[in-house]
Amino acid sequence: MAQQDDNVLKKVISHAKEYGFIFPSSEIYDGLSAVYDYGQNGVELKNNIKEYWWRFMTQLHDNIVGVDAAIFMHPTTWKASGHVDAFNDPMVDNKDSKKRYRADVLVEDAIAKMEEKIEKEVEKAAKRFENFDRAMFVSTNPRVLEYQKKIDETNARLKAAMGSNDMPAMKQLIADLEIADPISGTKNWTDVRQFNLMFSTEMGSIAEEANKIYLRPETAQGIFVNFLNVQKTGRMKIPFGIAQIGKAFRNEIVARQFIFRMREFEQMEMQFFIRPGEEMKWYEYWKAKRMKWHQSLGLGEDNYRFHDHLNLAHYANAACDIQFNFPMGFKELEGIHSRTDFDLKNHEKYSGKKLQYFDPELNQSYIPFVVETSVGLDRLFLATLSKGYKEEKLGTGGEENERVVLSIPPALAPHKVAVLPLVRKDGLPEKAEKIVNDLKLDFRCYYEDKDTIGRRYRRMDAIGTPYCVTVDHQSLQDDTVTIRHRDTMQQERLSISAVKNVLAETCSMKSLLQKLV
Ligand code: GAP
Repeated sequence: MAQQDDNVLKKVISHAKEYGFIFPSSEIYDGLSAVYDYGQNGVELKNNIKEYWWRFMTQLHDNIVGVDAAIFMHPTTWKASGHVDAFNDPMVDNKDSKKRYRADVLVEDAIAKMEEKIEKEVEKAAKRFENFDRAMFVSTNPRVLEYQKKIDETNARLKAAMGSNDMPAMKQLIADLEIADPISGTKNWTDVRQFNLMFSTEMGSIAEEANKIYLRPETAQGIFVNFLNVQKTGRMKIPFGIAQIGKAFRNEIVARQFIFRMREFEQMEMQFFIRPGEEMKWYEYWKAKRMKWHQSLGLGEDNYRFHDHLNLAHYANAACDIQFNFPMGFKELEGIHSRTDFDLKNHEKYSGKKLQYFDPELNQSYIPFVVETSVGLDRLFLATLSKGYKEEKLGTGGEENERVVLSIPPALAPHKVAVLPLVRKDGLPEKAEKIVNDLKLDFRCYYEDKDTIGRRYRRMDAIGTPYCVTVDHQSLQDDTVTIRHRDTMQQERLSISAVKNVLAETCSMKSLLQKLV
């Protein structure tokens, strides 16, 4: 991670705490590793992200409905889904630093370093030659070809070792790549072992009768086991989708980078049930739809890219990530997976209950195939916060010469408007309260009458409030106010009755959803 970007993440973490977005869990006991609490502003931003996703899925698509399944599920669910046997990460410890790593991530990082070396060669050559032809250069330059050969070989060995669960082969790959621990600098590694990521607990009050159950590691299975309930009671016809937002739990080996990788997190998942054989069509369809949804947030189109999976999960026949340019670089934000009929077929097998759909157009029954979209809510939160966070020099003197502003999408902001009486007398607070009372049925408003107006603006900038409406003596005369725009800091005078329209056009969920219809 570049030093500068490391600093950005640190600043975002401290800003998130200072302004009531995110606190470490049980902080008075020194926190709990990779578990976080959302504060008074965080919960609003998070709820707004959820609402945007939920309404896009279930309101703009008449063939998608929602469910809210329980976190606890019958233990056989996880046998059928493959999670008991295959939801593992390979872990390895460095004997000198005593630090634990994911073996596959160490290898992927080594591959990324080789790719960086190729880019450096390309950059050097591009500076040297006037009509530089990148494609020609990378297909002929001996050094680049050598790196590429090593990358291809490493990818193939990684895929083979992971695919066949061959942990000694993983250990050998780490040794052959001469990977050293970034902390101790040594190559003194333990054997690579598989580690199941599911948390388990016991259900039942008497120990002997207790059943081992799991905290769900993905929300998707609650959708699969309810597939026929929803299809029948909702009279759904294929193709159709079931959406769900909820908590998932994973005992991550390496849990760091703030809310990027947590042990308790939230997913927003949608399983789209389709005819067998049509999966590639729908896979491409949902890739495009989900990318457009992300880009509608205005965090910068260049900050997203697709990344195809080389090592497919046990249930998938095609899979990719939508990656986002986090402060730590491009990383997975959402997964789009063609899950075939793996889950429904196995639930049919393990439960002994038919999970088939009768297709009236084909006049036949079949187990549907599934294309899944799965986005991490907390990662989306981090993407919004880290791209929104800006430190600005303003060029005026005194305490006003710099500000921190959260330029987050207005529709996602915890408060849409702050209503501020210029002074705490002369009837201005009463006038301001009347404005709040008129707006608060439609928009979350903030009222504040303490401190200088400049300080109040700064506090609103820091929590991303898109507008500040200031009530002054003129407001009492002609029912006008000044409205200040968060990002430009421009102010304009307008009638009080016009404020609601400005908010509706720029801050409502509808204003955001409109970009997608
Ligand atoms: N049902 C498919 C599934 O769970 P996944 O790629 O393992 O697929 C989907 O997870 C998304 O959940 C990821 O793209 C990521 O955004 C989020 N996610 C996964 N593990 C996470 C963790 N430990 N902390 C935060 N978010 C996580």
